[in-house]
Amino acid sequence: MDSILVRGNGPLKGQIPIAGAKNACLTLMPATLLTEEPLTLTNAPRLSDIRTMTQLLGSLGAEVAALQGGQVLAMSSHNLTSQHADYDIVRKMRASILVLGPLLARFGQAEVSLPGGCAIGARPVDLHLKALEAMGAELDLRDGYVRAKTSGLRGAVFVFPIVSVGATENALMAATLAKGTTVLKNAAREPEIVDLAQCLRRMGAQIEGEGTSTITIQGVDRLGGATHPVVTDRIELGTYMLAPAICGGEVELLGGRIDLLAAFCEKLDAAGVSVTETDRGLTVSRKNGRIRAVDVVTEPFPGFPTDLQAQMMALLCTAEGTSVLEEKIFENRFMHAPELTRMGAKIEVHGGHATVHGVEKLRGAPVMATDLRASVSLILAALAAEGETVVSRVYHLDRGYEKVEEKLSACGALIERIAG
Ligand code: EPZ
Repeated sequence: MDSILVRGNGPLKGQIPIAGAKNACLTLMPATLLTEEPLTLTNAPRLSDIRTMTQLLGSLGAEVAALQGGQVLAMSSHNLTSQHADYDIVRKMRASILVLGPLLARFGQAEVSLPGGCAIGARPVDLHLKALEAMGAELDLRDGYVRAKTSGLRGAVFVFPIVSVGATENALMAATLAKGTTVLKNAAREPEIVDLAQCLRRMGAQIEGEGTSTITIQGVDRLGGATHPVVTDRIELGTYMLAPAICGGEVELLGGRIDLLAAFCEKLDAAGVSVTETDRGLTVSRKNGRIRAVDVVTEPFPGFPTDLQAQMMALLCTAEGTSVLEEKIFENRFMHAPELTRMGAKIEVHGGHATVHGVEKLRGAPVMATDLRASVSLILAALAAEGETVVSRVYHLDRGYEKVEEKLSACGALIERIAG
């Protein structure tokens, strides 16, 4: 297993290109199952999760050609040979459950392994299933699989009891081919869902209201092919915005869009970080003086993203004052705290709250990545720490960030991968 070695090296200066969004691409790819015509995604990120989704679609008989180094995904499910999504693949990536709605909508049947939980929580999929049942799916849960069938999905009104990104995406895709009108209430509003709706509309779907909490879909008989650019990755963007915030200096994030991160940028401003829009993206630098403590509560979009909570905690470890972070989306998303503590941070975790008492400086130490966003939080902390940090188990990192060491080295960071 690879590790990443980081030596604190002071302020950063340079540009970082932001890739297409992992969490948009992972729902756009299953959309190919809705049509027999080609669906091509451009601006796709080159990540291990994308390769896993490619493997899953391939196991169903879909063709996915990664062109231009993986930035273009040319897909076709003209000759689908199976509707069985096996545990061996699904267990590697929970987003695999997003093939369920499209398979059911197009073929009237699907057999998909239930994804296990993961480090950050139990991650149930009951809302995915309830939404599909509301549209007429008959579900049989046995041996760790959900076997679904329908004589034809029908439009329905479904109210999500809690906001769920994945369940909204599964229901949205299924509804495009259901007979009649579907209304999804208390739907997730994330930009990745807006991006999915825009792609489905290019394919001929009739959708209104994406980005609000009520999405209305008028089912159609069939969908066509399309070419669609994956929206920029707001979580990668937010992550790299924190690099100059933590280290000092100035970095321009190419392709960054401030409208995707309004709540996050408000917190950065309060903490003493300057964010300026440029004609190529965003420039970020630390205002004069030390970072100030701020309180953070994670919420569904447009609130502060849970996927940036770990990274924000790294910034607040060296802030002046005490910050309280409340994690309201997942039940176990503070596993980066003990690792940051090894670097000298002062953090108390009680249930869904983490209290961070800022210290002047962190110190490098051997630490272990536990999940995707925790791993990058440790790298951010290491950039500003005195001395050397080795982050182990970086396979977590490679799921969601392409070429981290290259992107940060280009701005003056001392960071390298150690093959293990
Ligand atoms: C998506 O996960 C993202 N993953 C996550 O990003 C992100 O943290 C999450 O949305 C919240 O924004 C992808 O898009 C591939 P949810 P998802 O359904 O869809 C509960 C990353 O780091 N819930 O919105 O699984 C659930 O347990 C990853 O890139 C149910 O109870 O998240 C959680 O507490 C991590 N039943 C809450 O809802 C369900 O059927 C929100 O989960 C579904 C979810």
